[in-house]
Amino acid sequence: MNKNWVLVTGATRGFGRALAFEWIRSLKLLPDGSKLLVTGRDESKVSQLVEELLEKRPQVLVAGKVLDLNSSLIESDINSLFQQEEGNNYACSYLVNNAGTLGPLGPLEDCDWKTISCYFYENVVTTVYLTNQYIRSFGNSFRHVIHISSLAGIEPLEYCGLYCMGKAAKNMQMRMIACEHKNDIRTLNYAPGPMETDMQTHLRDNLPSGPLKTQMVELWKRGQLVAPSESARKLIGILETGRYENGTHIDFYSDNAC
Ligand SMILES: NC(=O)c1ccc[n+]([C@@H]2O[C@H](COP(=O)([O-])OP(=O)(O)OC[C@H]3O[C@@H](n4cnc5c(N)ncnc54)[C@H](OP(=O)(O)O)[C@@H]3O)[C@@H](O)[C@H]2O)c1
Repeated sequence: MNKNWVLVTGATRGFGRALAFEWIRSLKLLPDGSKLLVTGRDESKVSQLVEELLEKRPQVLVAGKVLDLNSSLIESDINSLFQQEEGNNYACSYLVNNAGTLGPLGPLEDCDWKTISCYFYENVVTTVYLTNQYIRSFGNSFRHVIHISSLAGIEPLEYCGLYCMGKAAKNMQMRMIACEHKNDIRTLNYAPGPMETDMQTHLRDNLPSGPLKTQMVELWKRGQLVAPSESARKLIGILETGRYENGTHIDFYSDNAC
């Protein structure tokens, strides 16, 4: 039995999509007969993605699921996702928590009750619950949880308050799991670098003026943004070698990123 199971959330565009395409190329992380499950919010985009991935490796079972982390039905959607995986028998399993939003861009004190609670519901509450259900459902396999984190999870980035706080909370979630499951679950916070995606465009276009906006515009003008596929390859390399401390934070630019 050397089949693996992988779930990548938010895989229909941006980094999640790039990661799904890099993952399916990895015979080590996804031996023939393994299962790759991708989620997105748009059913037709999810189906299209599944088809494209299957073309790359017909030997892998690729499945898609519509999952909106902002839905009022998200708890039962997550429960049913894992019920479908009951009786699973995989060597290794991987949950990649990639889906996320930037939230409001502006001074933290401008966020009202609804904005704060919606942001944490969509970006933290649902991800923590998804991870808990994964951990409870995949005890037969060697479990891995990867949080697609950011520098924002360890450094305050001006006018991105809720985003920074959400990333910091999920960084700690990875450390908590590593602390409580030293030997049977591996977790990683991977900061993919400033990548040319819709999120980056939104950040560049909507950040109030200040040093961060200037820096982001400069990176873009100089062509120094990271290609999502390049960052995805780096993460795949790290996971293939497995050379990382449980619960650690690795940045795309880190020397310890192999
Ligand atoms: N881009 C960067 O420079 C950068 C830097 C550091 C960290 N990151 C992190 O990398 C990850 C991917 O970001 P990206 O740059 O690829 O962003 P993106 O292009 O905006 O893509 C975001 C992804 O999250 C999904 N998503 C958003 N809200 C969702 C919801 N309510 N339910 C389910 N899925 C939802 C989107 O799904 P739909 O396609 O259905 O909308 C999309 O697949 C994020 O966690 C981000 O914080 C990005």
